[in-house]
Amino acid sequence: MQINARLVRKENYEPKELNLHETLFHNANGYIGIRGTLEEGVPTDYPTMRGQYIAGAYEIIPMKQAESLCNLVEKKQTMINVCDTQTIRLSVNGEEFLPIKGGVSEANRILDMAEGYTERTTVWTSSSGRVIRVRIRRMAHFTVKELFTIEYEVEALNFNGEAVFDSSHVSEVANYSDPDDPRLADESPCYLKTVEQGFSESRSFSVAKTEKSGVCVAVATDHVVLSDSRSDSMIREEGTTLITRLRIPIKQNEKITLIKYAAFADSIRETDPKARVMQVLSDAMSRPLADLYGEQKNYLAQFLAHSCMQIEGDAELDDAVRFNMYQLLCAAPHDAHSGIAAKGLSGEGYEGHFFWDTEMYVVPFFILTDPSLARNILSFRYATLPAARENAALLGHKKGALYPWRTITGVECSGYFPSGSAAYHINGAIAYAVIQYYLSTDDTAFMTRMGLEILLETARLWMDTGVYDRQGRFCIQEVTGPDEYTCMVNNNYYTNASAAYNLRFASKLYERLKGDEAVKQLAAKLQITDKEIADMQKAADAMYLPYDEEYGINPQDDSFLEKPVWDLAATPKDDYPLLLHYHPLHLYRYQVCKQADTVLAHFLFPDLQSVQTMEKSFRYYEKITTHDSSLSTCVFSMTASMLGLKEEALAYFGDSAKLDLLNRHENTKDGVHTANMGGCYMAIVNGFAGLRVTEDGLSINPYVPEGLSRYSFPFAYRGRSLKLTVEQGRATLELISGEPLRFHFRDRKEELGKEEPWTQKL
Ligand code: BGC
Repeated sequence: MQINARLVRKENYEPKELNLHETLFHNANGYIGIRGTLEEGVPTDYPTMRGQYIAGAYEIIPMKQAESLCNLVEKKQTMINVCDTQTIRLSVNGEEFLPIKGGVSEANRILDMAEGYTERTTVWTSSSGRVIRVRIRRMAHFTVKELFTIEYEVEALNFNGEAVFDSSHVSEVANYSDPDDPRLADESPCYLKTVEQGFSESRSFSVAKTEKSGVCVAVATDHVVLSDSRSDSMIREEGTTLITRLRIPIKQNEKITLIKYAAFADSIRETDPKARVMQVLSDAMSRPLADLYGEQKNYLAQFLAHSCMQIEGDAELDDAVRFNMYQLLCAAPHDAHSGIAAKGLSGEGYEGHFFWDTEMYVVPFFILTDPSLARNILSFRYATLPAARENAALLGHKKGALYPWRTITGVECSGYFPSGSAAYHINGAIAYAVIQYYLSTDDTAFMTRMGLEILLETARLWMDTGVYDRQGRFCIQEVTGPDEYTCMVNNNYYTNASAAYNLRFASKLYERLKGDEAVKQLAAKLQITDKEIADMQKAADAMYLPYDEEYGINPQDDSFLEKPVWDLAATPKDDYPLLLHYHPLHLYRYQVCKQADTVLAHFLFPDLQSVQTMEKSFRYYEKITTHDSSLSTCVFSMTASMLGLKEEALAYFGDSAKLDLLNRHENTKDGVHTANMGGCYMAIVNGFAGLRVTEDGLSINPYVPEGLSRYSFPFAYRGRSLKLTVEQGRATLELISGEPLRFHFRDRKEELGKEEPWTQKL
């Protein structure tokens, strides 16, 4: 398989580029995430987010509410920046390697997505004329989740002398903050306080604990020097920083290497995190580093075998999609202790909170590429179902579960309820993902153990929220849909459509599985009655979906079309994103959308409307959507594909695919836009290829957009491994493993056997 799996960028050591590179070249493995900050540090006035994170590790902090209205959220969780093991200062013959201050003749950064490391290479001349080449390779290991390594190689190009490394283990570090940006924390204390630290021979260790959440993080580091000469080492402690100094003679044209191993563990997953990090280090250091690199490469080869998307005809797009898919893997949790944060593990934007982003935009990717990871993500939602029930009760519901809009452990953390807790559609997204997982995997065991309970409890919430109006329509009032520029409305089309889907499927699945012993126990536990199930079905059938005769479109909600249209053409460029320049109430009074809302509903539930209505809606919302949210253009692309608007589909796809690589939203410095990355995958698979999984099975309706010549991708479906290749004029579906398949091509029934691929002229 010939693919380019490298992202290469010139490193100019420019302040405004550094924090962007910190994100693009971060290392993460679903458990730890380390931003690509400079080992040698930066001057204090440089913008930098020197971060390292553990999935799900958090502190509880007060939420400032201006007025203490009943049951508002008064505490929130925030992701914590854990111990910094990145810092390594280098001096050669007494001169400190500080490329940021000049002397750089050549520098670049690489992210190698087939090998699973990042690398920074710099050729640097000191003020006295000594030249060195420094190559620093970093890896967050995919199979030894706790392990982060730095391989620091120095080559003296024109002198003999001595290299001195001061390698630190900083136990207490502060979080990043920006009081002017609502998408970041406004305060930045050190949340972890050291409870134990020291050296055990050459190995540094620290155990630190948060005050409120009681989460403990243990970290240990150790070093190996590779050199022909003998090195000296010295250890010292400065407050909560543990420093190892290594002096190594260096000769012209000789390379010396310092390998720094760091291990991270937490008390959420481990009873003795300190013992765990010590063990991880001993195991890792008993093997050559090359072995660990080899394991990393094998892991990624497996990942690529299940997921490698190849696009021909536009190499940049092909690279961008590969980058996005790699980032999704870096964010994917490997247990049920955490979800996927809006920025994955790449930065502190949105304080490490998990939103509907995960289920609506990221789970679809894993369902098709590694269903076991999708199951982990959904298991986290199952584990937090009790918290969702409590959340529903806080909001006055007598029954059901309402998932929090933003959270780390399942508790609501959104401070501004109009565009937070009121976004009930998160329940719809979670239910949709559970259903998609089930339809694509046939994993009935998951459904009887977890999935059905999620579906029933989310369905109950809709029953408890909705009311029948005088015309007998089931209505859902005072909620916020995906578009956060329109809040607290009645009958948001998207919310109602996803509630109906949730209700219908919950009742149907319950009926189907109710003979199962586990489901009988579940029914007893939840005290489900046949009447309740029948009521769910009735509400789904009676669900009100707003439709406007005059425009022939689905209004976003009951009052949407009554508002004046925001004049986007007259809005100055600098006023975007609007949320940073206009009071929310002002925005709510206009027809202006932050992101796809009804357009997303059309894509997910195409059977609810005619193609003409959906096309008119698409055209209508297109004119009033700012795409200020990164969750938007990918949806416009897939809906355009579904409607046969090929040019639009490609244009929106291009915007979405390169969003972080080109820093289009100018905030990639705060972390990658994980949901968009999943959406970009969906724009190809569900958009261009028209792949859908419904109760009728798998269907495809592929085309190749103008300007591309071919694309192909493998995917999993009900125990099978398949590959779809689409060229201009032809589609081919291959069965790589598993049983023969019946599927739909457009409206036609087709069969794919083991012997020959299915091919079709387009
Ligand atoms: C979007 C939400 C999204 C959140 C986190 C906001 O800008 O409007 O839909 O969940 O970002 O990505």
